[in-house]
Amino acid sequence: MNPLFFSTPSRDLAAWALNSRGDRCSGPNLAIIGVGMMGREHLRVAALLGRARVRGIYDSNTDSIRLAQRECADQPKDVPRVYGSLEAACADTGVDGFMICTPNASHWAVFERLVATGKPLFIEKPMATSLADARRMVAIASDYPGLIQLGMQYRFKAQYIDAFHAIKASRWIGSVRTVAMSEYRPPFLDKVGQWNKFNRYSGGTLVEKCCHYFDLMNMMADSTPVKVYAQGGRAVNFLDFELAGERSDIDDHAFVCVTYGNGTLANFTLNMFSQELYEELVVTGAEGRVVASEHASFRRGIPSTAHIKVEVADHPAYRGLEVTYPDTIERSGHSGATFFEHLAFVTQLEGGGADAATPIQGFWSLVVATAAQESLATGEVVFIDEFCARQGVALPA
Ligand SMILES: NC(=O)c1ccc[n+]([C@@H]2O[C@H](COP(=O)([O-])OP(=O)(O)OC[C@H]3O[C@@H](n4cnc5c(N)ncnc54)[C@H](O)[C@@H]3O)[C@@H](O)[C@H]2O)c1
Repeated sequence: MNPLFFSTPSRDLAAWALNSRGDRCSGPNLAIIGVGMMGREHLRVAALLGRARVRGIYDSNTDSIRLAQRECADQPKDVPRVYGSLEAACADTGVDGFMICTPNASHWAVFERLVATGKPLFIEKPMATSLADARRMVAIASDYPGLIQLGMQYRFKAQYIDAFHAIKASRWIGSVRTVAMSEYRPPFLDKVGQWNKFNRYSGGTLVEKCCHYFDLMNMMADSTPVKVYAQGGRAVNFLDFELAGERSDIDDHAFVCVTYGNGTLANFTLNMFSQELYEELVVTGAEGRVVASEHASFRRGIPSTAHIKVEVADHPAYRGLEVTYPDTIERSGHSGATFFEHLAFVTQLEGGGADAATPIQGFWSLVVATAAQESLATGEVVFIDEFCARQGVALPA
């Protein structure tokens, strides 16, 4: 079995991952840059998986460092060293791979310093806040000596692993014609410095959060976007939020339509003033329909559940099947997706293969996201070739 990933149903993948947990002292050594909410999730997942060791951390905020050290309190012999600067992290010859988990607007600057090491890199999504920076990253990645993995980890949620398996590996629904994705969720959480309340730090809501969904839509359509139209805005969240005299300007709802080069049509619905989290992907082909969904919650004690339906005669999931990962994996963060994303990085560091996002795939998710932000701002349909040309961004082959 090649367990990574889309050729394998989620239950087989979970069983394999749990059986192959290791002794992290003998695996690759990682350094995490930025140990806020997401950097600490990677710390926890690294400990749960046990296939790599977090050798060092760097963060410009001492509270984040303190919280990260607290995460490691139960492994006193294995607490990561704290670098005093990014340069000190770069100079540590014992590091086998870096994970960039700083806020979006800093990704390019941190990336630029880390590529000088030539070492493997993991970059949290979105890869950048501007398409021009993302394109520069793609250009650098094309002849970079180490692997570069993008943090589009929703593709590792159980329901999307199974959807991809049904649609692409097994071709149950024939050729894909329409893709409909939606997310209903509560408002953005607090962040260090509240960077996610401002478009100039996050790139905008559709960039910050929804690049995940555009990545999934791009994969399901198996094509690149040619046209994007979006409506949406600020209806409920953070309308009075202010920091140091600056008012929040982020959107909290949107409808986005995408036309792909191969004729596939897709839409995405975002609502960020819901009580609970609900995600749904509906992919329809000439011979049937796949529905992948997840219920989750920010409230304690409410577990997440993932389901899939494959509406094709005789399919075992015709009437629906629960595909939730085992509890230890689900609870490790983002319904287990971070666990498998981390596993993909470590597997690639060890020389194996994984269906993890590449810089070019990260770039295309940002193309849809930034085009959708542009359409929200102008009210116009955005044609991708013109949009990129206006910014001097050449589309990768
Ligand atoms: N893959 C996912 O599902 C997912 C989920 C949440 C966040 N993220 C991404 O992870 C990244 C971090 O988000 P977060 O939620 O952890 O934010 P956060 O605010 O909780 O943490 C960011 C941390 O980076 C530190 N930092 C800022 N600039 C730095 C710099 N130049 N050098 C070193 N440290 C720096 C901050 O002090 C803070 O501790 C963002 O890009 C975000 O979009 C991804």
